[in-house]
Amino acid sequence: YPQAVIFDLDGVITDSAEHHFLAWQQLGQELSIPFDRQFNETLKGVNRMDSLERILSLGQANDRYSETEKTALAEKKNRYYVESIQHLTPQDVLPGIIDLLKDLRQNKIKIAMASASKNAQFVSERLEVDHYFDHIVDAATVEKSKPHPEVFLKAATAVGVAPTDCVGIEDAAAGVEAIKSAGMRAIAIGDADILNAADLVLTDTSKLSLTTLSGVFSK
Ligand code: G6P
Ligand code: MG
Repeated sequence: YPQAVIFDLDGVITDSAEHHFLAWQQLGQELSIPFDRQFNETLKGVNRMDSLERILSLGQANDRYSETEKTALAEKKNRYYVESIQHLTPQDVLPGIIDLLKDLRQNKIKIAMASASKNAQFVSERLEVDHYFDHIVDAATVEKSKPHPEVFLKAATAVGVAPTDCVGIEDAAAGVEAIKSAGMRAIAIGDADILNAADLVLTDTSKLSLTTLSGVFSK
């Protein structure tokens, strides 16, 4: 077994990746920079300001706004997002996640969260999963966005486990890259074509179990 399992939040524990997409899409429309789900794949796991820059560069609009205006745009997206997550409940936790968290606890395997979202604590509380976690990295303390491994390494350090003894679970290509650069095993949830850098790709969270985790670990 791994000694620690490090979870991404948005798109792994709950479907909030969809809420992020809709909020960015709304802002994009207002800026006359429409984009589709395929482009959204490149935003997953990427922090707020970096996501904005990617959207602006899609519309070749990076130079159109001052830093102050960019901050205001990012805040606007966040208001859309925060509004849309107010009604999250424990029922919004994706299939198989609670059983896995319970199994990990029972087996005394450390549990951490490595999300790029500054709303991670709030979402975890709404879902009532926060108490399962030995550590939730505060995104405000992370300098480099995924695919940089910083957030995963911070999580491992916080629970006192070497990266080689950790498994990371992600739904984003940037997140899988971050896990692999951190020297950890990666399990991805989603499309195998997009997430092929992972050690194992599962179509959805219901396939997650202690067995699938130890399988990837014993490789
Ligand atoms: C996660 C999501 C991204 C989101 C980022 C920042 O990584 O996958 O879609 O943009 O967090 O979230 P925040 O809530 O801080 O704007
Ligand atoms: Mg994610």
